[in-house]
Amino acid sequence: MIKARDALTKIKPYVPGKPIEEVKRELGLDDVIKLASNENPYGPSKKALEIIDSYLTNLNLYPDGRAFELKTALSNYYQVQEEEIIVGNGSDEVIKLLSEAYLNPGDNIVQADVTFSEYEFGALLMGAKVKKVPLKDFTHDLEAFYNYIDDNTKLIYICNPNNPTGTMVTEVELIEFLEKIPKGVLVVLDEAYAEYVADTSYPNSLGLINKYPLVVLRTFSKIYGLAGLRVGFGIAQKEIIANLEKAREPFNVNLLGQVAAVRALDDKEHLEYSFRENAKARESFYQECQKRDIKYVKSHTNFVLMQVEDADTIFNKMLKKGVIVRSGSVFGLNRFIRVTLGSIEQMQRFWQVFDEIGG
Ligand SMILES: Cc1ncc(COP(=O)(O)O)c(C=O)c1O
Repeated sequence: MIKARDALTKIKPYVPGKPIEEVKRELGLDDVIKLASNENPYGPSKKALEIIDSYLTNLNLYPDGRAFELKTALSNYYQVQEEEIIVGNGSDEVIKLLSEAYLNPGDNIVQADVTFSEYEFGALLMGAKVKKVPLKDFTHDLEAFYNYIDDNTKLIYICNPNNPTGTMVTEVELIEFLEKIPKGVLVVLDEAYAEYVADTSYPNSLGLINKYPLVVLRTFSKIYGLAGLRVGFGIAQKEIIANLEKAREPFNVNLLGQVAAVRALDDKEHLEYSFRENAKARESFYQECQKRDIKYVKSHTNFVLMQVEDADTIFNKMLKKGVIVRSGSVFGLNRFIRVTLGSIEQMQRFWQVFDEIGG
């Protein structure tokens, strides 16, 4: 047997939300809904679909390795320079690039416990260590983060709003934190769900990138409804982006993803519709929880963490009835399930099945 790198022994393969087709196949079901990966239930923008159609005959060609049109569109939209943007095969890839660009064996990252799993994956892959700061009231405890930073800390991840809890840190809290972090540490602010946030105390993070060593991550997988095409991006000072660019593969973002993302960015109506419907679905979800006396964590996103007796039991029972949710056990939260807010019909089905199984 050829021995793989030692770093791999620490890595547990990512367990994604179960795909619909797999559940249909395995359980012999026809009608399955997925409320497990925080996708947009209202689909992609029509404008994005139209442009994809017109590019299908170009699939024999490589995509633009520099993603010129997409970077131009992002640069105009966010009022930053093109050299301050990196686009990736999902923001997952940008997280991996950050790990590859900044982490040597023996370095460490500081992150919340619990948060999005890819930060840990990237660190372990590079032979770096992961320091986990317990959440306080399901929210990042930035005060406590200082106690975990040491001379080997290179990256600090703040997932805002946090996956899987849906909670956020405010601009005031973030700036207070950034003011005090030591030199040589890069802060990564993962804002995958930013477009769902209505709270006005949410940070205007792009206004901070020139003042602090900060990388802001965004994605087209969530409110823009393009998860299947894999497009995410990072915004930071030029010197940071230049380092990430060195680790990037030449054609990392596919052709359809690039053109669709440009159109999606331009489709304000789809964005606003998705935002409004999600806000309604969230309120209605809270009401349904209250009716049943179920505890939940107030969320700024398109998913809600709700308390149950036993997460795996509920997950499995719901799965058998064709409703895929995320069991909190994958995050170490055995008494919670994370439910993506679906369409009205999907949420009716969710509650009907939940009541049926005696959740
Ligand atoms: C907080 C967070 N960051 C990043 C991602 C990855 O997004 P992408 O599809 O852009 O790779 C996700 C996806 O679930 C997420 O929840």
